[in-house]
Amino acid sequence: MIQAARPARARIVSTGRFSPPRVVTNHDLESMVETNDEWIRTRTGITERRLADKDTGAADMGAAAARIAMERAGITAADVDILLVSTATPDRLLPSTACDIQALLGSHNAAAYDFASACSGFLYGLSLAEAHIAAGQAKTVLLVCTEKMSSIIDWTDRATCVLFGDGAGAAVIQPAEGDGRGILSGYFKSDGTLAELLYRPGGGARYPLDIAVLDERSHFVKMAGAEVFKSAVRSMCDAAGHALERAGVTGDDVDLLVPHQANIRIIDATAKYAKIPPEKVFVNVDRYGNMSSASIPVALDEAVEQGRAGEGALVLMVAFGAGFTWAANVVRM
Ligand code: COA
Repeated sequence: MIQAARPARARIVSTGRFSPPRVVTNHDLESMVETNDEWIRTRTGITERRLADKDTGAADMGAAAARIAMERAGITAADVDILLVSTATPDRLLPSTACDIQALLGSHNAAAYDFASACSGFLYGLSLAEAHIAAGQAKTVLLVCTEKMSSIIDWTDRATCVLFGDGAGAAVIQPAEGDGRGILSGYFKSDGTLAELLYRPGGGARYPLDIAVLDERSHFVKMAGAEVFKSAVRSMCDAAGHALERAGVTGDDVDLLVPHQANIRIIDATAKYAKIPPEKVFVNVDRYGNMSSASIPVALDEAVEQGRAGEGALVLMVAFGAGFTWAANVVRM
């Protein structure tokens, strides 16, 4: 899907995040599966992750992040026209988590729907928000990315369980004000022929949950790590290059790269390709692991808080995830 370079139509007005309080370190995982801190750190850059308790759902985390973003934007729940939710871990399969969050927030004027583009969710969501605004359907879009990855991970599979964490990020998106700030370019793509390299085979409509699915543990995430790694590097470089080109800028112009936080080696390869030096790359995978679509908005929110993505900063965001999906945006904050 292509968007040409043009003046910004929409901008990120504010962000918010929620992290569950429970910290689980690599050392904690050593007692659960045959792994060790050194293997996890050197292969992925992850030191610890936050995991939600049993009673905390994806909607709870998403609503918590959304409340912070709304407060910072100076809006109330009633001001939200469209509530977009990215999640690979809906609390229930019917209705959408977006409707659950809509109810929790009391955003009674909002249309609400989920979309599923896995780890690329925040960037797919930015393009959706921008399109709704450009079509005149919304003045205020609330984009929420919330992931309870711990609920779909096989805690007996060391190849996947060490990689993920739980959390939520949110952003309020409104029309650009013509001052140069806003979403300057977007690029988002998919390749479903590679779906089975990272997927949950069972528990959906094709193979509904039954004893066989439970026995095979096929309702949990399955991943071909090395193949996913190669595709992630290739796709994130592809997306970064196109988004920079469409915004009419180069890596030199970028103040901060906010990449999807799956693996420090994927992040380093993307930054190198985009010619962005390490000091301009935001990294928090060490503290959170991979929170799927929540990774980028949580990272962006931390970057804003730390003054690394302040007003006027040029930010490149790049993501890759199951599908496969991949995407990038250049944004003037
Ligand atoms: N602890 C210890 N050993 C582990 C392990 C763990 N948690 N998980 C796997 N291993 C073992 C494997 O069993 C394998 O052993 P073997 O060689 O005896 O068969 C070995 O480690 C694999 O090592 P290596 O090939 O060096 O792993 P890697 O460098 O490919 O790293 C990943 C593995 C998963 C970290 C890497 O492939 C990756 O990050 N892939 C992308 C994953 C991802 O980001 N997914 C989400 C995308 S949004």
